[in-house]
Amino acid sequence: MKKLDYDLIVFGSGIAGFKAAIHASERERSLKICVISKLHAMRSHSVSAEGGISGVLYPEVNKDSKELHAYDTIKGSDYLADQDAVELLAERAPNEIKYLDHIGVPWNRTMEGEVEERPFGGMSVPRTAFAADKTGFFIMRALYDRILENKNIDIYHEHFVTSVSIEKKRFAGLTAINIGNGETVAFKGKAVIVATGGFSRIFKFTTTSYSTTGDGIALLFNAGFALKDMEFVQFHPTALVPSGILITEAARGEGGYLRNSKGERFMARYAKSKMELAPRDIISRSIMTEIKKGRGFSSDEYGFEYVNLDLRHIDSEKLSEKLPMIAEITKRMLKLDPGKDLIPIRPGAHFTMGGIDTDINGRVLDSEGNTAKGIWAVGECASVSVHGANRLGSNSLSQCAIWGRIAGEEAAEYIKKMSENTEDKKFMEHAENEEARLNRIIESSGKNNPYEIKAELEETMDSHFFVYRKESEMKEGIRRIAELRERFSDIYLRDRGRTYNTNLTNVLEIGNLLELAAVTAEAALRRKESRGSHSVIEYPERDDGNWLKHTIISKEGSGMKISYLPVKILKWKPEPRIY
Ligand code: FUM
Repeated sequence: MKKLDYDLIVFGSGIAGFKAAIHASERERSLKICVISKLHAMRSHSVSAEGGISGVLYPEVNKDSKELHAYDTIKGSDYLADQDAVELLAERAPNEIKYLDHIGVPWNRTMEGEVEERPFGGMSVPRTAFAADKTGFFIMRALYDRILENKNIDIYHEHFVTSVSIEKKRFAGLTAINIGNGETVAFKGKAVIVATGGFSRIFKFTTTSYSTTGDGIALLFNAGFALKDMEFVQFHPTALVPSGILITEAARGEGGYLRNSKGERFMARYAKSKMELAPRDIISRSIMTEIKKGRGFSSDEYGFEYVNLDLRHIDSEKLSEKLPMIAEITKRMLKLDPGKDLIPIRPGAHFTMGGIDTDINGRVLDSEGNTAKGIWAVGECASVSVHGANRLGSNSLSQCAIWGRIAGEEAAEYIKKMSENTEDKKFMEHAENEEARLNRIIESSGKNNPYEIKAELEETMDSHFFVYRKESEMKEGIRRIAELRERFSDIYLRDRGRTYNTNLTNVLEIGNLLELAAVTAEAALRRKESRGSHSVIEYPERDDGNWLKHTIISKEGSGMKISYLPVKILKWKPEPRIY
């Protein structure tokens, strides 16, 4: 088996992972670093980020402040965010936007040449910097160029990580399949930064790419680490019908309306002052309520009920300068011209607020709250927690940029001070056992088709854990997930080859999705209140007396151990959320 030795392994290649690798390298030039991606690294889901990145750039001009950014974020989170982490986000976001400017992100600019900021949902003033509606792509391109300048960073494209090895609560290394030739590769390392993104692909109707299968989250869960607030899944209000492709919130930030079948701007009923720029949880619920009350559209062609996004009144020059991709998508997918036609949309799974439990520096925690040595998690896979029960749009790119840097620099310092490495022999035993496990999976010749299991999982999550949740439906959902997991233990693979065996990597992903769906479902059923994105018909109100706390779940045998942790409340006491 091929064995590779690195100081730092970055597992995942989105904005958070790239930033982590760059800042570790810039902190300590002698480090040997690698980035592992199951795709070509530039195809990670961050490239599809559209609307922008938040940060207070012009406090005087916009009557803005970091304090106001923090307050908006905390109110947006329905008071479940940890306020120390949110203050850090608001404090550091402007410098990260400037850093990205410095390395070449082509921001939209004002006539005076300043980085332009646009309004976004739940933000009191415009504070979202953007590069048209392709912000993620442009940030990734600039970071990728920067990575290539760092000769001490190697990138392993198309390597699928299958296990993590921990020795005495200390990171020892990872194993991965080289997808191109099927070889198992043992990556020995002194520290790891997990940055593998979220797991919205447990749902069928989603804005996220096929790769968002929560691999790093599932691996750390199986290695004994804790997951936090997994019940909170963000449904983005404007996913294009029927594909689920994201129609950026910036479309509303630039003045778009939401209309029901009567032509009404129905947000006036639900968020009088913010209207279409209320936070996403509120707008998604409003859309589903309109549909339930018979004020949506239904179409046999699309197979979904929906409402419309109206951009017809927006100046065509503004559309082509600020939302060119939206026009491209609607024209290509539906032959609709946003300057003339209404755009059919409905809520789709977009972001998972929950993830690997970390401290404020991204250090991974176990169920007792102890940090593990040499393991960080950053970006969407981590719950640090800045988004609480509902993220504000454009705060995720700031989170990725900030915690990518924090973890990268910390990991570099940690490695510099490390006196001894973990044992080679033990790690290679782990890697050989893992290779044997993978060989057994390739040979699987059970009764069940894994892709059918995946399709049923997606259907179950869409129908039982969507925008509005009901106890009886969640219980039935949990029963179905358990049954699917049982069936998954007896699957078959059709492809037994080694070259690009995506049948094998798909099966590993489906295993991860099943595991994370089970945790999400259990956490959702147990939370007996409605907060942020988690809305339960039987408990329509937020219940701070009993539920102002984080859900912590870790593995216990084949089951789960569930506990709760207080939220860090500093100066912002919970208030009703009125917009
Ligand atoms: O709508 C959007 O452009 C998404 C932004 C985000 O999720 O932060």
